[in-house]
Amino acid sequence: MATNPAAWTADANEALRLSLVRTPDDKAALSTREAYEGFHPTFTYPIFGEDEKIYGYQGLTIDLKFASGSLAQLLSISYSERLPSSTAVDDIEGALSKHIPPGYDTDPEAFAARVEADALSFKPPGERIYSYSRPARRRGWPPTKGKDKASGSGTLLDDDEDDIVEFEVYHSTWDTPEFREYHRRMQLFVLLYIEGASYIQEDEDAWEFAVLYEKRTLKKPDGTSRVTYHFVGYSTLYPFYCFPDRVRVRIAQFLILPPYQQEGHGSALYQALYRYTRRTPGIAELTVEDPAEAFEDLRDRNDIAMLRGEERFMKEAFGEEDAQTQTEDTPDGTFEGASDVPQDAPAPAQRPHP
Ligand code: ACO
Repeated sequence: MATNPAAWTADANEALRLSLVRTPDDKAALSTREAYEGFHPTFTYPIFGEDEKIYGYQGLTIDLKFASGSLAQLLSISYSERLPSSTAVDDIEGALSKHIPPGYDTDPEAFAARVEADALSFKPPGERIYSYSRPARRRGWPPTKGKDKASGSGTLLDDDEDDIVEFEVYHSTWDTPEFREYHRRMQLFVLLYIEGASYIQEDEDAWEFAVLYEKRTLKKPDGTSRVTYHFVGYSTLYPFYCFPDRVRVRIAQFLILPPYQQEGHGSALYQALYRYTRRTPGIAELTVEDPAEAFEDLRDRNDIAMLRGEERFMKEAFGEEDAQTQTEDTPDGTFEGASDVPQDAPAPAQRPHP
């Protein structure tokens, strides 16, 4: 039957479509639906093999939808034609289910009910360590690279009251209630977006996490309102022993999902980590494991901005007068309403790494 194998071979990165699903009453999200739905992974080789191809189907679409806050999942696989099972047809669900936790939905109606229920009940696990606010998404926002990023020309999609959107970063460990299950739902993203990434070991107790959420306050026609949280990205952190009595925290995995990239959220999450580690007693240094080029750029840009904001550094580097001039500028990547919360965050686990 398969006289032409190429006709039955799909590009796995193209076939896999990811979506972050919000409830129908989140009109801000609905009007920018295309931004959150149907984006593709960068890598699928950990799931479908080195050549990132899926054999045995024509017109293949693998829809993996996530409730935007709780990350509950819906998997649906559709195709126009499939070779008979007696041939070497790839088992798509079998391959994917090795990397996502059991309990995902396959029935769209059940999933829609779950999105609705989760939107009401989902609260980010962990402790809020940082927050900032940004103008609401605009049609045509962000502007294409090279254009004036600050002007934000474009049509506002939200009502005036939604003009400013809040973002919050939550810190967790394995001991944070419900976080372990949450991490099992979000860890797929590291396989899909970070080259060479693999899942971290759940039996290594010292892991820490910082998760970034968009926080929306939805005003209902009856005058009541409700707060919903939507996953944006996250970072995993590992504290290594640092002689004699401190830890060196290493950023192991760091990602912002494509619908939110190029809007400064990566910078904001990095700043959250930087500020958290600086104010937490017992942390000597914040380092990065095997950074991708894009992350190195992000880190350099933010480190320079933060150094320019340090009066002591500027005085030593440039002398009294120049230091004054430099620190008057608003450093790149600083966000309206950025704040560290709370001030007295507890020190992380200080287990020396073997
Ligand atoms: N409007 C338009 N552009 C903006 C805005 C804005 N409001 N704010 C920032 N930008 C620009 C920045 O200037 C920067 O431009 P540049 O690329 O020309 O330098 C660019 O957007 C990216 O900066 P951010 O928006 O702060 O970063 P982003 O949120 O896109 O996150 C990241 C960057 C983390 C690399 C993201 O692309 C990603 O997750 N990629 C896939 C996974 C990955 O590679 N992770 C790092 C692996 S390394 C590790 O894990 C240790």
